[in-house]
Amino acid sequence: MSGADLDPTTPVVIRRGPSPVMPLTGPLIDGFGRIHTDLRVSVTDRCNLRCVYCMPEEGMVFSAREDVLTFGELLRVARVAHGLGVRTVRLTGGEPLVRRGIVDFVKDLAHLGFDDIAMTTNAMDLARLAGPLAKAGLTRVNVSCDSLKEDRFAAIRRRGDLATVLAAMDAADQEGLGPVKVNVVVLAGVNDDEVLDFAAFARQSGRVVRFIEFMPLDGDHSWTPSRVVASAAILERIDRVWPLERVTSAHEIAPAVRYRFRDGGGEIGVIATVTQPFCGTCDRLRLTADGHIRNCLFAEDETPLRDLMRAGCDDPAIERAIRRAVWEKKAGRGSDDLTLLRPRRSMSMIGG
Ligand code: GTP
Ligand code: 5AD
Ligand code: SF4
Repeated sequence: MSGADLDPTTPVVIRRGPSPVMPLTGPLIDGFGRIHTDLRVSVTDRCNLRCVYCMPEEGMVFSAREDVLTFGELLRVARVAHGLGVRTVRLTGGEPLVRRGIVDFVKDLAHLGFDDIAMTTNAMDLARLAGPLAKAGLTRVNVSCDSLKEDRFAAIRRRGDLATVLAAMDAADQEGLGPVKVNVVVLAGVNDDEVLDFAAFARQSGRVVRFIEFMPLDGDHSWTPSRVVASAAILERIDRVWPLERVTSAHEIAPAVRYRFRDGGGEIGVIATVTQPFCGTCDRLRLTADGHIRNCLFAEDETPLRDLMRAGCDDPAIERAIRRAVWEKKAGRGSDDLTLLRPRRSMSMIGG
């Protein structure tokens, strides 16, 4: 494979749309013509782990319980979003499984008629909950796992253990929540020597391992460009051992660019937010646990839905607020020139 074929670049073609006026009907569209059909719902900012790339080890301040949306409020926003053309939902956190009542929430969400209800989890509680979640209507899970070495796993995640996560992946597969995608945040000098081990793991297990570039969303504020391992370098290393070919077309909507092993041995992905953002085709919006709509992972501005709802607004007011939030989305990574800036809130508060 040539270097050009390995390039995870999705051409970022972003132009302002034809109309300068926000439409009040039709799909959820932004000023660049991107239609939004995917909602990421953070159900809590709390977590039972303290991954180095996400939270500080001590002193994390969580939202007060009364500031977090009730399941009823989350459901209401999801219902309105469904009416605006949102077709897929992903539950995130913090860690979504630490919130009590999550299984019943999935059941209620499933009744709204989304095409896909997925979850991103650290899997510490997944082995126990995989069955009930699948029965409730969850369709699939993505699991974070940044090392296949026990001691290193513990060092990166500060709490938790590898064996529990590996067992949970098996449970998820057995309960029909697979194929499990495995999220690996690659940190220079920490776990980047495991790229080939993870590729071998993908080949043996049939799971899709996605290598994620470290983003400036860590609670420790330790991110520097030198700690990022470029996706292109990861792909080159794997391709030298197991030749790869790109699966994702330039027009597909996803942060992960997919590659398959040419010998049929499975698939991997890279999420190259730092070196090659996918913003040109972004179709996502986010609801934070404390009830704010974010139109981008890196957005500076948020739309406060919680206060609106608690002041007694009707559904059309929620609709307008969501439409406005999407309409005002910037070209990419929270800005119009794609500059990568650290947002005020870190990953666990935004919802991965
Ligand atoms: P699939 O639909 O299964 O591919 O899931 P996903 O990759 O969208 O979801 P997941 O929660 O597993 O996200 C994996 C990683 O993608 C996250 O940890 C982020 O690093 C990155 N990611 C998720 N959403 C966005 C986004 O809106 N923008 C960017 N740049 N990266 C994102
Ligand atoms: N950079 C990249 N990915 C991150 N995640 C959390 N923090 C970061 C970061 N700073 C990922 C986790 C998980 C998802 C919720 O977000 O690996 O897959
Ligand atoms: Fe918790 Fe996920 Fe953040 Fe790790 S990345 S601390 S598991 S919210």
